[in-house]
Amino acid sequence: MKTYSIAVIPGDGVGKEVVPEGLKVLRRAGEVTRSFALKTTDYPWSCEYYLEHGRMMPEDGVDRLRDCDSIYLGAVGFPGVPDHVSLWGLLLPIRKEFDQYVNLRPIQLLEGIEGPLRDRGAQDIDIMCVRENTEGEYVGMGGRFRQGEPEESAIQVSLFTRKGVERVARYAFELARTRRHMVASGTKSNALNFTAVMWDDIVAEVGAREYPDIELTSYHVDALSARFVTAPDTLDVVVASNLFGDIITDLGGALQGSMGLPAGANLNPERRYPSMFEPIHGSAPRRAGQGTANPMATVWAGAMMLDHLGEVEAAKLVMDGLRHVAKHGPRTKDLGGTATTAEVGDAIAAAVGRVPVAS
Ligand code: IPM
Ligand code: MN
Repeated sequence: MKTYSIAVIPGDGVGKEVVPEGLKVLRRAGEVTRSFALKTTDYPWSCEYYLEHGRMMPEDGVDRLRDCDSIYLGAVGFPGVPDHVSLWGLLLPIRKEFDQYVNLRPIQLLEGIEGPLRDRGAQDIDIMCVRENTEGEYVGMGGRFRQGEPEESAIQVSLFTRKGVERVARYAFELARTRRHMVASGTKSNALNFTAVMWDDIVAEVGAREYPDIELTSYHVDALSARFVTAPDTLDVVVASNLFGDIITDLGGALQGSMGLPAGANLNPERRYPSMFEPIHGSAPRRAGQGTANPMATVWAGAMMLDHLGEVEAAKLVMDGLRHVAKHGPRTKDLGGTATTAEVGDAIAAAVGRVPVAS
């Protein structure tokens, strides 16, 4: 039996409440399949840690994570620490340092969950978003000048590289080969005449040269956003830059019926560095401390982690358990129920390995 070493960063707010439930379910999947155990190391890096130590994580924080098999993260951000400080002190450096250039975010409406779109059900919404995760608009280059003065100015540079666009495009095309053979590329090349035009050129080049079997369609990201709402069934794999991908995956997440459901994987596909798995939702400071946050997104992220670790069977059992509870309850408040975070975690754990396949 294998033992995986998992670095656990619960972070802030509801992150600290949902992560233990995720671990509970994953451990159960390990027992049921008898194929692995998890050795977890907890890192208290968070806004609370910042207020005590003046930084979000120790100077060698990223190095301490280097040897783990995966990172499991809750959420980062809390009033008292500006968001750009907390995020540039923890989440974003991990994504960049570990070259987690794919942010994979499945947008699926689960059976039994009511989505916000009239006449659209589970069969209509099954999109895999591939968000570039290390460069683009999030490269972090720029500066502020003459702060507070009338001449104040700021520059925030977007950096797109051929290597960066090629590799994320290739990932999206490969993924489409395992699905419905369609890739939609989010762009804005009508207005962004340098970066987005290069993006389009490179995505089209990779597609034509290496993936003639995949149907590639390019959409301006504004129109693509409308399409998420008006025709989600026409979307299979979506690939987009860091910022565009960020925005459309919250839109997509909303289509799942609650932000308590969407999950994401920050992947270093070459496995040179650990990958990181997290719910898409934030720390929800106003909801924190009540024990009512939905743990499903974190469980889903955990299933993606197992998949990445090669525990494909266990990942499937976790998803079957999650689907079962989505359909039959119990449910937390965001889904109209009264169950606590722990009750939903317990129910999913109990369903792992016990429910008919893909129920
Ligand atoms: C996300 C989040 C982050 C992002 C924030 C918290 C920096 O919104 O993971 O989608 O924009 O990447
Ligand atoms: Mn986001």
